Amino acid sequence: MTFIENTDFLTGLQQRVSHPRLTAPAPNSDQMASCYQAAFRAPDHGRLRPWRFVEAQGDQRQALGAVLAQAMLLAQPELTDAQVDKLVNGPLRAPLVILCYAHLTEHPKVPASEQLLATGCAVYGLSLALRALGFGSVWRTGESCYTPAVHRALGLGADDQLVGYLYVGTATTADKSVPELSQDDFVSQFSPL
Ligand SMILES: Cc1cc2nc3c(=O)[nH]c(=O)nc-3n(C[C@H](O)[C@H](O)[C@H](O)COP(=O)(O)O)c2cc1C
Repeated sequence: MTFIENTDFLTGLQQRVSHPRLTAPAPNSDQMASCYQAAFRAPDHGRLRPWRFVEAQGDQRQALGAVLAQAMLLAQPELTDAQVDKLVNGPLRAPLVILCYAHLTEHPKVPASEQLLATGCAVYGLSLALRALGFGSVWRTGESCYTPAVHRALGLGADDQLVGYLYVGTATTADKSVPELSQDDFVSQFSPL
């Protein structure tokens, strides 16, 4: 049996935080390639590989903001100017925005919920790998993630489901300190009823 004990890896997991304030540089394509290989090792029932990633950087972010705003306005014409501005400018909050979605496959043993979980694990793996290379990220969703008009505008099919936008770049602030949670609040021992 091979098992690689890696206390740095454990510490990294225990100390992970998001970084909502991000600036250039974003990872380069070689660095992203390494990180995707980490994401692709997410647990995945049936090896369906449901995860998909679409990168937007540079001017592509403005285009993405425009698409999100137009699609949301189509779905909700009552949006205020401030809400539209937020959608337009949202992707500019980081030098790289990755649309993360699940491509769902009909499978007798693997329900869509499991494929969404696998995709979530892949996004988490991607964020951890980015952190290992010294980059920050934050996973966001919002209503646009769950709006069919947005899916259509992004070219997603009926079997695709957005799970979030991963904002990626160089953190402008130090890691925040997060109080350790009490294990007793979340973990118990099984006992038959
Ligand atoms: C599926 C998903 C969607 C999220 N959507 C948002 C969001 O829209 N806005 C937001 O501020 N945080 C969102 N978060 C939470 C942030 O990614 C982050 O975890 C949170 O700000 C807490 O920071 P921390 O990761 O450093 O503990 C989301 C997390 C997940 C897993």
